[in-house]
Amino acid sequence: MCASISGFSKLSKSKKIDWIVETYFSNTEDAKRILKQYWNTNDKLQQLHDEFIENTITNYYLPLGVAPNFLINGKIYTIPMAIEESSVVAAASKAAKFWMDRGGFKTKVISTTKIGQVHFMYYGNIENLKNYFNHIKSRLIDDAKPITKNMEKRGGGIVDIELRNKTQDIKGYYQLHASFETLDAMGANFINSCLEQFAKTFKNEALNFEGFSEQEKNIQVVMSILSNYVPDCLVHAEVSCKVEDLNEDKNISAEEFATKFVQAVNIAEVEPYRAVTHNKGIMNGIDAVVLATGNDFRAVEAGVHAYASRNGKYSSLSHTKIEDGIFTFWMEIPLALGTIGGLTGLHPLVKLSLELLHHPTAKELMQIVAVAGLAQNFAALRSLTTTGIQEGHMKMHLMNILNQFGATETEKATLTDHFKTNLVTHTAVVEAIKDLRFKKND
Ligand code: MEV
Repeated sequence: MCASISGFSKLSKSKKIDWIVETYFSNTEDAKRILKQYWNTNDKLQQLHDEFIENTITNYYLPLGVAPNFLINGKIYTIPMAIEESSVVAAASKAAKFWMDRGGFKTKVISTTKIGQVHFMYYGNIENLKNYFNHIKSRLIDDAKPITKNMEKRGGGIVDIELRNKTQDIKGYYQLHASFETLDAMGANFINSCLEQFAKTFKNEALNFEGFSEQEKNIQVVMSILSNYVPDCLVHAEVSCKVEDLNEDKNISAEEFATKFVQAVNIAEVEPYRAVTHNKGIMNGIDAVVLATGNDFRAVEAGVHAYASRNGKYSSLSHTKIEDGIFTFWMEIPLALGTIGGLTGLHPLVKLSLELLHHPTAKELMQIVAVAGLAQNFAALRSLTTTGIQEGHMKMHLMNILNQFGATETEKATLTDHFKTNLVTHTAVVEAIKDLRFKKND
């Protein structure tokens, strides 16, 4: 059915629901019941969630799990992860434990600069534009002072503004390319406010610049916006140990495992089809922590994948080597994160997650998030190069299938036990449930 409505956002929550269920659902009472069963009984908490976005009709739950035993630069963390995929937290925990016994994760923030741009059109003489930019640059910074004052007090602010000539790509296209240090804030609002102020000053003051012809005074600002590509907001995470210490309770020697692991990473470095899945595994860990800590996972995803293509071909984010009998596995990844501002002081579970992580600075959070990604990648490659991924995946997925069939607690216990020694496939689980229920009724 195609239905449209005007003034929807002005309706009360209950009227919005009435319209939705009556327009789209055959069983209106059932649809309402499902929506309402996710409402929080604490009205204040519900109102908080209602006001995060427009047109909230209910809450969408994701499990918040924790992966303990992460040793990062000598300090132990329990990492919160919000994710629906059944095997991710288990894999992170396993990888954490594995590396805990082998020296843990080492991390380092390489840089923290973020970028924003004012995109504009100018069709005059380039030398005149350069002169104008040099003349106005300090004024751009001064006019933004009301926005930057507090950030500057804490040691951040505008790092630099450059004029960039992009006319080779589009006739008349230039940028004010600005860099920022936003400390513990992700900084999107700060950067966008600065950029909009730059744009205003830049456009208005051009009208008074004597070095411009009348036509050149007409600078056309197209837009002012931060970039989610942050190759200079970079963190390094790594693990290493003697190859012989990679020994595990699998049917494969440490040396053979190390070799296959390196081959698997090499494949992801050269083969984009594999690289995308390889990096998706990394993002399983990264997004889950980014989400749990109230950060913008879409921004992180966009920036990370752009970084993975920075050399002109999409490639692995992680790398590995074996040198002098030492296995090293590492990753450098751009992460623009915040531990103040945004949802961080608002969402009770985000606050709790940050407390669980000992109230990290943005730099510390970058390191923790990168570790979650590297651990996830290690766990995936370890399974892929040894038992295969499905053994672990299906074991974790077992509970989803049992729930789909409305299994009771007793049935779950019996079948979980059964599948400890039997291969989990969808068909096998369905058969086992049927058998169990048949036997019971026999
Ligand atoms: C599944 O969510 C992630 C993996 O496919 C990652 C990988 O293949 O490396 C297991």
